Amino acid sequence: MTLNVKIDEIRTKFLKQLKDAKTSKEIEKLKVFYLGKKGSLQDLMQFLKTATSEERPLFGKKINDLKIEITSHLENTLKRLLLDEENIKLKSENIDITLPGRRHFWGRYHPVTLMMNNMIDVLVSMGFSVETGPDIDSDFYNFEGLNFSKDHPARDMQDTFYISDDLLLRTHTSNVQVRTMEKFKPPIRAIAPGKCFRNETISARSHVFFHQIELFYIDENVSFSDLFSTMDEFLTKLFKKEVKTRFRPSYFPFVEPGMECDVECFICSGQGCRVCKDSGWLEVFGAGMIHPEVLKSGGIDPEKYSGYAAGIGVERLAMLLYGINDIRYFTQNDLRFLKQFNL
Ligand code: PHE
Repeated sequence: MTLNVKIDEIRTKFLKQLKDAKTSKEIEKLKVFYLGKKGSLQDLMQFLKTATSEERPLFGKKINDLKIEITSHLENTLKRLLLDEENIKLKSENIDITLPGRRHFWGRYHPVTLMMNNMIDVLVSMGFSVETGPDIDSDFYNFEGLNFSKDHPARDMQDTFYISDDLLLRTHTSNVQVRTMEKFKPPIRAIAPGKCFRNETISARSHVFFHQIELFYIDENVSFSDLFSTMDEFLTKLFKKEVKTRFRPSYFPFVEPGMECDVECFICSGQGCRVCKDSGWLEVFGAGMIHPEVLKSGGIDPEKYSGYAAGIGVERLAMLLYGINDIRYFTQNDLRFLKQFNL
């Protein structure tokens, strides 16, 4: 077969394949097939080997012309196909800017956190500084230092989660009292917000963990009336209205005298409901004058100083403020519930 015939054969085959190619990928394949190291054009080189010295430059030129022709065809077609493919892709990714946007959900604070921050803001504005204590604490700070002796019957009031004989999940934020007395000299005016744990049956009113804010003031001549006025001011500022309160004598080993403060139930306006156990009142904090033994535990002279303390239940106040009638909602992680709170 002569070179000319072979060249015509290759050209005809190439042009047909070029016409059939529908994608840029197919063009790339043709490029390898014809121009690659083992491609059809390379096969033509054998004609050069056997050619006479006069024929050789002519053969070389013919092969080269074919190469140029094929290359230019491939390049043009590749360009066209790439453009087509780009257009198809752009069309399929078309963004309809008239479509309504997808809503982003903003995270928001948990109602207990909202309530807690609110309470802290009010108390800080009244001159209290914020102290903290650990959730896992020793028997000393939670009980012993607070005038609960080892066999004190009052320990039964709080079903405690013990980790070991000496370590427990704090049952109240009162564990911060002695810690703070050890750290500072009077006057001390501090609050301690945090989680508390009690091994109680979960119901509409109580849970195994909840939050308190401890509040205490130690100075010379602190009296019971200071406690009343502080708590009244706190509740009025928090609820932004006069709140009906009721103080009842009560017993806690770390205060003397001790009391409990009830707030009129906002949910039923004092009529009686599930949350207030039909009494019309909700107990929101325990309080009293700090027992001299507790001051001693904290290294403070009870002859010179006196103080008051209160432990305020955060969930209870949140339930009052937002009209929530079951404490379990706080821990069920139901977004329909959680999304309702915004401050
Ligand atoms: N620690 C008590 C409780 O958890 C509340 C309290 C605090 C009472 C401070 C008196 C003084 O029930």
